[in-house]
Amino acid sequence: MKNIVVLISGRGSNFKAIYETSVKENWSENYGVQISGVISNRPDAAGLDYATAAGLPTVIIDHKHFASREDFEKVLADEADKMNADIIVLAGFMRVLTSYFVSRFEGKILNIHPALLPMFPGLHTHERALEAGVRIHGVTVHFVTAELDAGAIIGQAAVPVLAEDDAEKLAARVLKKEHILYPRAVRLVALGKVTLADGHAQMDEQTSQELAILS
Ligand code: GAR
Repeated sequence: MKNIVVLISGRGSNFKAIYETSVKENWSENYGVQISGVISNRPDAAGLDYATAAGLPTVIIDHKHFASREDFEKVLADEADKMNADIIVLAGFMRVLTSYFVSRFEGKILNIHPALLPMFPGLHTHERALEAGVRIHGVTVHFVTAELDAGAIIGQAAVPVLAEDDAEKLAARVLKKEHILYPRAVRLVALGKVTLADGHAQMDEQTSQELAILS
């Protein structure tokens, strides 16, 4: 069985989408893939309640209790190891990870970012997309490196920017796509259909088509 450990900081809607898809598609029987646990760096993350209700093991590691990022990440990595993590999925996990953690799980950490990278790394992506006047916006799933929102791109989904949009409307349109793209990307990485090699995500033609969502 391939184990996925999900890291959250808040609402957890992407975690929920991955979990619900894994149940609907019966990942454990059909693919030998399961979510083995959820870790939050915030005790009040709403996603924790959902994980508990789903019967998944949860752990809280409050980053405020650690003197340095590396001290926090040592405990985080140890907990992920205890959950036998094959893949670590950042789902609204709002802590930058250092090369310590990233190198311990090289090529096994995924993140979702609400923009078409390499455009708009960092925060407030929807406001910045509107400000820039782009007509197409979207979401990216990528392998994590120590540089913020900069790792090899696994998959992307695009949405139109509409004349009446404000940041909230645009974010909602992107979020719907996040909930389609992320479960798909997680499954394909867990199955070994996407791997990190020479700084790029390697995949076959069929997989690349599944991971380029244009409408
Ligand atoms: C999502 O929109 C995700 O793309 C974004 O935070 C939100 C978390 O929502 N992530 C980032 O901005 C990372 N740079 P969720 O907790 O409901 O999944």
